[in-house]
Amino acid sequence: MPVYRSALLRFADDGRALYDEDGLLAIGPDALGRQRVLAAGAWQALAPQFAGEPVVHLPGRIIAPGFVDMHIHFPQTDVIGSPADGLLPWLENYTFPHESRFADPAYGAQVASFFIDELLRNGVTTALIFATSHPASVDALMAEAQRRQMRLITGKVLQDRHSPDGVRDETVQSLVDTEALIQRWHGVDRLGYAITPRFAPTSTPEQLRGAGELAARYPAVWIQSHVAENLDEIRWARELFPASRSYLGVYDDFGLMRERAVYAHCIHFDDEDRALMKRTGATAAVSPTSNLFLGSGFFDYAGADRVGFGYGLASDVGGGTSFSPFKTMMAAYYVGREGQTKQGLSLSPQQLWWQHTAGAARALGLAGVVGNLQPGCEADFVVLNPQATPLLARKTGQARNLEELLFALIVLGDDRVVQETVISQAKYALGA
Ligand code: GUN
Ligand code: ZN
Repeated sequence: MPVYRSALLRFADDGRALYDEDGLLAIGPDALGRQRVLAAGAWQALAPQFAGEPVVHLPGRIIAPGFVDMHIHFPQTDVIGSPADGLLPWLENYTFPHESRFADPAYGAQVASFFIDELLRNGVTTALIFATSHPASVDALMAEAQRRQMRLITGKVLQDRHSPDGVRDETVQSLVDTEALIQRWHGVDRLGYAITPRFAPTSTPEQLRGAGELAARYPAVWIQSHVAENLDEIRWARELFPASRSYLGVYDDFGLMRERAVYAHCIHFDDEDRALMKRTGATAAVSPTSNLFLGSGFFDYAGADRVGFGYGLASDVGGGTSFSPFKTMMAAYYVGREGQTKQGLSLSPQQLWWQHTAGAARALGLAGVVGNLQPGCEADFVVLNPQATPLLARKTGQARNLEELLFALIVLGDDRVVQETVISQAKYALGA
């Protein structure tokens, strides 16, 4: 049983950051033989319990929970950085044509492998992921994640209208395929399935109804979609579903609002939408690099907190511009500063970090499972090097407290900070 000795970051149940400059993390099998955190805290206090155990000593390094990405598209790995005049032209001109390539299972398998390498290189150990409308794209990603022993959730995209040949699916077959994929993958090892209507405008009412029926029949399965991202998109959704109270209301009307339902963006909401999120237990995947890149708008943190619905951070690659949680946390800080509240918010680095780890896990219904390093959590973590670049070394060397240290990492950090990503003892050494 390895015992790690280094600085250690984790979170209390109320979201407070806990930091031990000289920390101990002990990992070992639980009663079922699964690797879990056995103990986490100050070295001085805990070391006597582990006398005689081999110690992995990492002076100058920080062990922290693996990051959790609440919303990312693996088939858009190569779509990053495609400029467009907003969401809808971006989908039409870049995203849909590219996603049609995933009709070829060999292509999907090759991208899946690169994509997971990229997640791990950036310290992301769990993600909720869009595949494409092709069932083979789900098989490719699930198989690769299973090989790496990762906790990862994905699903086949449902889009049976307003989509070009090559990505458009067929209503009845799409639902048959979804159920078969749930049965093949959900709950296998650490894998989970998400029912994945792309967004209301590209699904017929029949497809959304079928998705809602599956969501009722499989309550442990996730739901993921997009909502209220862009003003043209909202106008379109309102035209197509005039009977619903709002764009978000469409999903409610088809049984797609419940716990484990995760909606990307949630920017242009009113308080009734926020109350619906809270009442149903659905949560938001806040995707700031995507929202800034596509000019979609600013997530209203103050509005979300006023009403009290759950949220966490997401890259939304390839609308988003980076796999790196450091880039996403930095962009979230900008959004807080420049967002919808008049004076602007100063999100603290502890809050930002929580939103990408324990907070994101909670918003996925995985509190106490991933995203933290408290006893009982699964043992997915990162080893961070705060001296990864000359400027980082200089800046973190001057940090007088945890806030200054984490802010230096968020502002100056990227994949170079992630020295190692550990998935339940499967190690991905990343140099340095
Ligand atoms: N809305 C529908 N599909 C997508 C997508 O692929 N990316 C983003 N950002 N929004 C969407
Ligand atoms: Zn998205």
